[in-house]
Amino acid sequence: MIKFENVVKRYDTLTVLRQITFEIKKGEMVFITGPTGSGKTTLLKLIYMAEFPDEGEITVGDLRLSTLKHSQVPYLRRKMGIIFQDFKLINNLTVFENVALSLRIRYEKDIKNRVYDALKRVHLRHKADFYPPSLSGGEQQRVVIARAIASNPEIILADEPTANLDPNTATAIMQLITEINIEGTTTIIATHYRELFRNTWRRVLRLDEGNLVEKG
Ligand SMILES: Nc1ncnc2c1ncn2[C@@H]1O[C@H](COP(=O)(O)OP(=O)(O)O)[C@@H](O)[C@H]1O
Ligand SMILES: [Mg+2]
Repeated sequence: MIKFENVVKRYDTLTVLRQITFEIKKGEMVFITGPTGSGKTTLLKLIYMAEFPDEGEITVGDLRLSTLKHSQVPYLRRKMGIIFQDFKLINNLTVFENVALSLRIRYEKDIKNRVYDALKRVHLRHKADFYPPSLSGGEQQRVVIARAIASNPEIILADEPTANLDPNTATAIMQLITEINIEGTTTIIATHYRELFRNTWRRVLRLDEGNLVEKG
């Protein structure tokens, strides 16, 4: 589903990723870890084409990203729901409107159903008409998850999904992401926080000085 082949990424003179090669199969859930500044966010950005590799090839589904035209990027992004580290919620839109923004469908009725379904999924149906600043951090993170899943994406990319959350809330968020994965969504979680994968049987890939090492 997602394949990196000898991917190199530099920012000017700083080489963040050196010849990274890995593959994530459809339906898998994989952790990408490594200390702050090791390139986790960069790796996710390469997948949704917010950054571009200097060398190598990335494939997402049947799309080879190096051959993708600028006009096809929205098509790529429709395959994925992105859980951004800094939420990127729009504070003067309601929870409902924030989730609806991720949908490109024509019929008003479908939009309503999809948004309410996604909000029910994250147990926030009752907060649909609230504005993000009036929600707790955990609730805002759940809105971000609802926005990511509303369009039924094939892939979820989550960047530090539990940053700034207390341990109980973090556990609940991880349960939610795991449930979504179990239903078939390929999931990548970037985190420097070891607790998230301490007891997992899933693959953990660690970035170490630009190299990717598989643990376990
Ligand atoms: N747009 C950018 N321009 C220059 N350097 C960047 C840019 N984005 C990230 N970096 C640098 O690349 C390295 C990896 O960053 P990042 O991918 O955000 O790591 P992580 O998510 O693991 O903390 C860091 O040293 C960071 O300062
Ligand atoms: Mg990061």
